[in-house]
Amino acid sequence: MEQKRNSFTGKIGFVLAAAGSAVGLGNIWRFPYLAAQYGGGIFLLVYILLAVTFGFALMCGEIALGRKTGKSAIGAFKDLKSKYSFIGIIASIIPAIILPYYSVIGGWVTKYLAVFITGGMNQASQDGYFNSFISQTGSPILYFLIFIGITSLVVLLGVEKGVEKVSKIMMPVLIVLTLFIAVYSMFIPGAMDGVLYYITPDISKFSAKTVLAAMGQLFYSMSLAMGIMITYGSYMKKDVNLESSVSQIEIFDTGIAFLAGLMIIPSVFAFSGGDQAALGQGPGLMFVTLPKVFDFMPGGSIIGTLFFLLVLFAALTSSISLMETVVSIVKDKTGWDRKIICGIVLLFSIILGIPSSLGNGIWANVKILNMDILSLFDFISNSILMPIVALLTCFFIGYIIKPQTIIDEVELSGKFKRKKLFVVVIKYIAPICIVLILLTSLLQAFGLFTI
Ligand code: PHE
Repeated sequence: MEQKRNSFTGKIGFVLAAAGSAVGLGNIWRFPYLAAQYGGGIFLLVYILLAVTFGFALMCGEIALGRKTGKSAIGAFKDLKSKYSFIGIIASIIPAIILPYYSVIGGWVTKYLAVFITGGMNQASQDGYFNSFISQTGSPILYFLIFIGITSLVVLLGVEKGVEKVSKIMMPVLIVLTLFIAVYSMFIPGAMDGVLYYITPDISKFSAKTVLAAMGQLFYSMSLAMGIMITYGSYMKKDVNLESSVSQIEIFDTGIAFLAGLMIIPSVFAFSGGDQAALGQGPGLMFVTLPKVFDFMPGGSIIGTLFFLLVLFAALTSSISLMETVVSIVKDKTGWDRKIICGIVLLFSIILGIPSSLGNGIWANVKILNMDILSLFDFISNSILMPIVALLTCFFIGYIIKPQTIIDEVELSGKFKRKKLFVVVIKYIAPICIVLILLTSLLQAFGLFTI
């Protein structure tokens, strides 16, 4: 018998919980380096356009699927059309792929917090510090283990609610602090060029890659196309307005990503002396740039410590939601004891996480499809599996259960204002774009096509 589900108390509870999963390293670490790499303003523009169309439609669809069935991914698809439960199964694999490498990055954040607490800010702001750290063998693995250890402990003890409460206080502080750092860094000499680069779209920098990167980022950042929003939807009460909750989660998530970009990209310009190659450095961007900003700022070591602490919290709420998803899927399937499952998931994450960490150091020569191990996991989940799940979800909603099923669910709690947009995106625009993008990304990965 299906256990009775707990529900979120109201709209605010729902929005905050979903935002807690959505806002994480994706916004603060991943978004800025992608925006820097893929042309600044043009990436921002494409991202926002995708967020208000794809992101909106898919999030409404997923939350409604969950709320309608009261089940998480696999059960939700199965309930509506049992032949299609495989969509839920593919979706469920994604969090298991993300969790290990997410925790490696979480480990980097933990390390920077430790360095700032122990007064090592100046050292951390030197060129080469970050690369020499991630290329070591023991230290990054140790911090990765600390991060995944805390995540497992919270999931094991079932104290997620406690963490959520703390993060409800931390999250607004993070926003204010990010805003403060963003404004501060805009006024560092030389930063204005970076502000312009970030907010002015330059059409000549547009390419299929921009759209691919923006779309993968959108799914990742909003925790879409991996079953998570379906689960959140299953806990949502019928009288909470679904459409406006989605808008609020999107504004929250995109707003923080935007501010994170504003905090980091102008500083790259200020500290690289106009050398734009610094923009393309990828995953290290935040870790290389921010210590320089803090080092420049009066009282920077305190602000920096606070900042990394808050980012760590945002990362933990996301990793906890990833791990919790994996654990509950295994539990639903096997019925095993939660403790044992937690142990297995932890072990599995350690086994996949260690190579991701070593890929930056002694295993740097291991390249698959021209990518290091961490980037490969990121690529498999964000550029392949998530677009596939998104495509299947659109197909499922658009042609199997029909958009009306979702519309009826949304309208239980008020008028569906952007109903037409929803239908057009789910049935036509999203599937066509996703197919095009998926093909490009596959051809490109196998070196058959360059853009
Ligand atoms: N959305 C989170 C982020 O932006 C990552 C995440 C993905 C969290 C999936 C939970 C589930 O960091």
